[in-house]
Amino acid sequence: MSLPKATPQWILAHSPSGDIVLDGPNSTFQLKKDVPLPPLQDNQVLLQSVYFSNDPAQRTLIWKDYPSDRHYTNLMKEGELMRAYRVICKVLDSRSDLFKVGQLVIASPGWSLYAVVDAGACHPINELPGLDNTHFLGSLGGAGTTAWYGLIDIARATKDDVVCVSGAAGATGSMVVQIAKHVLGCKRVIGIAGGEKKCRWVESLGADVCIDYKASDFQEQLLKVTEGYVNVFFDNVGGKILDLMLTRVARYGRIAACGTISNYSSAGGSDVEAAGLNNWFQVVVNRLEIKGFITFDLGERTGEYVDRLIQAVKEGKIKLSDDNNTVVDTKWEDFPRTWNLLFTGGSQGKLITKVVD
Ligand SMILES: NC(=O)c1ccc[n+]([C@@H]2O[C@H](COP(=O)([O-])OP(=O)(O)OC[C@H]3O[C@@H](n4cnc5c(N)ncnc54)[C@H](OP(=O)(O)O)[C@@H]3O)[C@@H](O)[C@H]2O)c1
Repeated sequence: MSLPKATPQWILAHSPSGDIVLDGPNSTFQLKKDVPLPPLQDNQVLLQSVYFSNDPAQRTLIWKDYPSDRHYTNLMKEGELMRAYRVICKVLDSRSDLFKVGQLVIASPGWSLYAVVDAGACHPINELPGLDNTHFLGSLGGAGTTAWYGLIDIARATKDDVVCVSGAAGATGSMVVQIAKHVLGCKRVIGIAGGEKKCRWVESLGADVCIDYKASDFQEQLLKVTEGYVNVFFDNVGGKILDLMLTRVARYGRIAACGTISNYSSAGGSDVEAAGLNNWFQVVVNRLEIKGFITFDLGERTGEYVDRLIQAVKEGKIKLSDDNNTVVDTKWEDFPRTWNLLFTGGSQGKLITKVVD
């Protein structure tokens, strides 16, 4: 096969105010078909993107009007290549001693089918027998390390705690469930997820109970399953569920503020109003501890956390199967459509885009 000299890319065309626009003149993203690739220099590799991690935080990078000094990174400008956090790529050509042609690496080339990048910015994949490499994008990647760091270091959960997690069928939430139940041995684990099928899956992972926030009697069910209150709430979604949970966390309880996906389309300069908090008094009177965190703060310690997760898999405390990933075969033309499934409940576990012809 001759090596590519140009690549298709998706760029940010219009920062959305509200939901992502997939079609028409105001489309959020625009496909550029033949962007020339620079010639390969020493210590660089030519990559072909194969599997993309889809991350809710990418939505915050394209907020229309949000100050970068109140984010952990610079936000994107219209016309820029859409960023991606982790992509499994195949090395097509190499002028580096670090990587051979044909090897799989994890890199961050953005929404680009081919890319020339510095070899030093790529990470080798330490293949584990019997385990699909795609788990390094989710359960053994950012989602797994976030779950471990947030639950154990930030919320300081122990076996004596009742733990509740929102977004429990998502990439991070499903790992929180397994870590809480099978690694820490928490007293009781309660999940909150969207839909009956997802709730039953969360229970199969080890949650004592999982309730559907889309059900008409959700509030009633929440009161019932949190009778006696919870000591730790791992919050992936923010908004109304967080507001309700403020009334269900025990005195001196801890909340790990991991994410606010329910607000990602209604924040950052959006025209859509975000859900507010009515129950803040509960924080005061019940002496609740709420701590936000960003897993990037682990920096060089990230590898230690991945090792802990791998150890838990080897000990059978964390089980990984195809059910932990939703891998969507996607033609390059449909790329944003798959990513958008994050915000419409279209995935279970980690949403991964597999690029197909
Ligand atoms: N702090 C950090 O360092 C860090 C790191 C990674 C992720 N995060 C955050 O953690 C959260 C989970 O991220 P993830 O990567 O594991 O993705 P994820 O949970 O797999 O995200 C997709 C899921 O979010 C749920 N969701 C979407 N819109 C929702 C809404 N309006 N209300 C309630 N749930 C909604 C959907 O599940 P249902 O079908 O159940 O609704 C969907 O399947 C996100 O908020 C993310 O930004 C934070």
